[in-house]
Amino acid sequence: MTATRPRPLVAGNWKMNGLIKGVNELDAIATGVAAGEAGSAEVLVCPPFTLVSRFSAEAAGQHIKIGAQDCHAEASGAHTGDISAEMLKDAGASYVIVGHSERRTDHAETDAQVKAKAEAALRAHLVAIVCIGETRNERESGKTLDVVGTQLAGSLPAGATGANTVIAYEPVWAIGTGLTPTAADVKQVHDFIRAGLVERLGDEGHNVRILYGGSVKPANCVELMGVDNVDGALVGGASLKAADFLGIAAAYR
Ligand code: PGA
Repeated sequence: MTATRPRPLVAGNWKMNGLIKGVNELDAIATGVAAGEAGSAEVLVCPPFTLVSRFSAEAAGQHIKIGAQDCHAEASGAHTGDISAEMLKDAGASYVIVGHSERRTDHAETDAQVKAKAEAALRAHLVAIVCIGETRNERESGKTLDVVGTQLAGSLPAGATGANTVIAYEPVWAIGTGLTPTAADVKQVHDFIRAGLVERLGDEGHNVRILYGGSVKPANCVELMGVDNVDGALVGGASLKAADFLGIAAAYR
């Protein structure tokens, strides 16, 4: 990591976990960040939709940001059960995750849909965290870079800059499994994503943060966050407990 690298981002994805009482965990995270436990990193918590407004109010004035886990591509309309990027902005969110592999799998989201959601995020002045990553079969059959390259090309929003877009590389087989790629494998993919960003965005591609996600824990974060072109982490399970999440952010202390 050189001085020219963008500020790292440590993002927690709470998935379908969390009730109002979870605000205690948010407070504990914010207290740790205020005490310098996250060092230079920007810290983001993405709770379920039901908590975005409550958590945003709690986080106001603290050094912690709130995001959501998905959005609809349109601003409003007849889409029962969906939430727009504008609504998330109105609720106090500053980021939204799009194209998480669980949504690509559970809801059959395509690259084109993910791109439309990312563009909705930009339209609403949210930062889009665009997730990409290969399955175990794809890795084992040597298709990792093909898959990641195709997803990046198909999901990157028009108008992407370092200020409005983050890429999260999350190998599907590493999510929630305790398995992680080797540092060398992470480097290969992150270098490849960086090259793809620079090819598409020119020099601005250097400013887009590329997060690693998939079984990030306090025990492996220093090694993973130390890899070239890893600009932070997207953390699932370990983001639900303030101590673990802060233990990961501490890689930047
Ligand atoms: P995990 O999830 O940290 O629990 O593996 C990461 C993610 O899905 O974003």
